[in-house]
Amino acid sequence: MMMEEQDLLRFDKTVQQWLVDIRQTLEKNLLANLLISEKKGRRDLVTNVDKNVEKILTEKIHILDPKAQILGEEGFGDAVRTMRDHVWFIDPIDGTMNFIKQRDDFAIMLALYIEGQGTLAWIMDVDKGIIYHGGPKIGIFANQQKLKTPQNIRLEDGLIEVSGGRLLNQQLKLVEIGRKSLGIRIIGSAGMSFIKVIEGKAVGYVSKMQPWDFAAAKVLLESLKMPFTTIDGTEIDMLSSNTVLTATPCAHQEIVHLELT
Ligand code: 2AM
Ligand code: CA
Repeated sequence: MMMEEQDLLRFDKTVQQWLVDIRQTLEKNLLANLLISEKKGRRDLVTNVDKNVEKILTEKIHILDPKAQILGEEGFGDAVRTMRDHVWFIDPIDGTMNFIKQRDDFAIMLALYIEGQGTLAWIMDVDKGIIYHGGPKIGIFANQQKLKTPQNIRLEDGLIEVSGGRLLNQQLKLVEIGRKSLGIRIIGSAGMSFIKVIEGKAVGYVSKMQPWDFAAAKVLLESLKMPFTTIDGTEIDMLSSNTVLTATPCAHQEIVHLELT
């Protein structure tokens, strides 16, 4: 079921409050007993905080939006197979390695899609306490500050955010893209890299990711009129892993058409 503006605003405010509360709990309790385990290898880690945050968010979504399906990275949600009706995406801690090693540059991300359309999204820079939120109907904000579309600069005139792992493996034309840009930046958190693009500090971001890594950013960036596609310029599939390219319209075209050298 589609939502009226007043309901969108109510959902937006409610989720922001959840994030503020979780950040407080994190500082007070959760960090004291951090348990770290490996998922697929020594670089793919998960903690009890990732799991706790997803569990808390899943329970809250069930109460706020009882009929919705939930797709969460740590598996507390549902096995979502269709984008029909309401679908929520949760990345409880994005940039888990940064969270463990640095305690900064990590994010909590949520998104609500209705009938496949990106409707609301939230990315919290947990360390700074800034929530990037909103949607196509209500606008995009950094906390209370309304955000504008970033300047449409060329790849040659900007810094490009990339995935460190993909760059090491020389994938996704990243070497060529990096050479054409003013410089490469690697943060280690998709959410934090997307924030650089949202703020107009980076010209774009390229990686290969799972739906919970990009669902929120897609809503926020498309609402800001920024292209958000696969690296070939084609439409993203919300229920599988995708190469993801978001950039200013100018740089997006340059990257899609860039040849391997
Ligand atoms: P995560 O911390 O939520 O796992 C750098 O590692 C970025 O890529 C992070 O945003 C991380 O998200 C994500 N990431 C790590 N391993 C990944 C994988 N195998 N597939 C997709 N995204 C991954
Ligand atoms: Ca995660």
